Amino acid sequence: MRIAKLGLIVLVLLSFSVSFANAQGTGEGLTIGFSQIGSESAWRTSFTEAVLAEAKERGINLLFSDAQQSQENQIAAIRAWLAQGDVDAIILAPVIATGWDDVLKEAADAGVPVVIVDRNVDSDPSLFVTRVSSDFVHEGRLAAAWLVQATSGDCKIVELYGTVGSAAAEDRHKGFMEVIALFSKMQVIHSETGNFVRTEGKAVMQSILSSEDPANICAVFAHNDDMAIGAVEAIKEAGLTPGKDILIVSVDAIPDVFDAMDAGTINATVELSPFMGGPAFDAVAAHLNGEKLPAWIPVAGKLYTSRAAYDADH
Ligand code: AHR
Repeated sequence: MRIAKLGLIVLVLLSFSVSFANAQGTGEGLTIGFSQIGSESAWRTSFTEAVLAEAKERGINLLFSDAQQSQENQIAAIRAWLAQGDVDAIILAPVIATGWDDVLKEAADAGVPVVIVDRNVDSDPSLFVTRVSSDFVHEGRLAAAWLVQATSGDCKIVELYGTVGSAAAEDRHKGFMEVIALFSKMQVIHSETGNFVRTEGKAVMQSILSSEDPANICAVFAHNDDMAIGAVEAIKEAGLTPGKDILIVSVDAIPDVFDAMDAGTINATVELSPFMGGPAFDAVAAHLNGEKLPAWIPVAGKLYTSRAAYDADH
């Protein structure tokens, strides 16, 4: 009889340890705070939807905060989660790179691990577990390389800048400029922020078309598809043909950009995958399991010039 009881106890303990290990493997049963920048672009909305769906699939209790592009709101949300005392980890998509040291130190002191996703922070990497993101510099290089080959290295360019101070904008600019610097006839003649927002991209392009000689503009490099689509509207309203009179290359590979490619108004885009939730939740689970993680978990993206090429890869 005693052996039977002992066997039952062992079985119960084994089932508990298996379920605990499983929870640690996928994140199931964890409470995780996700501080999202906002909903400024179609890509950001897709990213949010993908993370929420992944959390639901894994049985993670996700606390979601949309900061409406305000760093103050992001920091307040993180502090509220730390005060709750029952949050196992935090995932942060930082709107800009600076200003995170204090809140990341507070999270570390509270023993709540933080995983950075999408954009980057300039804080000491010891303050967060890892970063899941694309290589923004590479995205800028890809866009520039495509434009060089499309114009034989001779093009005056308008740059529609993303959010100033964000890693996505700063690093895409850096990569783009590195490549065009190799070609004496490739020149950015005007660079202005549209803050990754479609309506702002249109307004900035309208202003540039009224201040610059449109015949002098060979191409637009937009830091995201939403601003590129805004620029298309402005170029059309100016009586020009986008994609022909003025070439357009951007980043994100959102569904609308392939409608524009079908219409010939946008020429190329560099894909930014919205599926970073899975790797981020895996990183949380691995960290809580005591595993060491790399400082950066990269997410790849290719340049596409047609819907067919994109569909062949997805
Ligand atoms: O951080 C990634 C950028 O942020 C995307 O390219 C853009 O659409 C979003 O606003």
